[in-house]
Amino acid sequence: MERIRLGINIDHVATLRNARGGVHPDPLRAARLVAVAGGDQVTAHLREDRRHISDDDIAALAREAVLPLNMEMAATDEMVAIACRHRPFACCIVPERRQELTTEGGLDAAGQKAHLAPVVARLREAGSRVSLFVDPEIAQIEAAREIGADAVELHTGAYCDAPPDDRECHLEALRAAARCGAELGLEIHAGHGLSYETVAAVAAIPEIVELNIGHFLVGEAIFVGFVAAIERMRMVIDTARQPQR
Ligand code: PXP
Repeated sequence: MERIRLGINIDHVATLRNARGGVHPDPLRAARLVAVAGGDQVTAHLREDRRHISDDDIAALAREAVLPLNMEMAATDEMVAIACRHRPFACCIVPERRQELTTEGGLDAAGQKAHLAPVVARLREAGSRVSLFVDPEIAQIEAAREIGADAVELHTGAYCDAPPDDRECHLEALRAAARCGAELGLEIHAGHGLSYETVAAVAAIPEIVELNIGHFLVGEAIFVGFVAAIERMRMVIDTARQPQR
């Protein structure tokens, strides 16, 4: 199986910085460490309320191009204009509600085709690869294909949040969605809530070519350092990708 592209989400480096309103810790410095640790891309979510990543962060991450930038964004005119200005390597369209603590569910691609199709087209014309962050449901995958996305990112939150004994049905949904998406010609990504404990079963799904992981690693960094936390994640993922004997 092909090696998984590992995107590291650095939003919560910015959360910590913003807690004091200063410049430390700097997400750009974190992005440089992602490269040192063997990550393949940097993922950052510019939220409408700018609660973590700022416009200046996106500008710096795009300008410095330490690693390809995957910009997570809502499908709004403001975000599309920003993305078209910076032309990140990739854009991942996510749903956004102001009150939520984090991205709570997948995008309703099936219910918003008319709104999403022109957004995807504009981002692709600007040169970005576009993915839609969706729940692992066949109707959403088919809609993503119709909308013209390059990829889907499967929301792994329900799987990660389930008690270990209840995870199998969520994994089955992820496997079925991954198979369906790959058959339709979509690139298959996954992310949200992944940890050392939950990542292996997802990384073992052969159609998945990219994982985006953030909160757990920024938390682990407090105890073992950012580079060591990412290196261990890389190892767990790569091991899960090896054929089982
Ligand atoms: N992928 C997407 C689309 C996300 O919105 C997020 C959270 O911002 C992640 C991956 C990373 O999730 P986590 O921080 O829980 O690892």
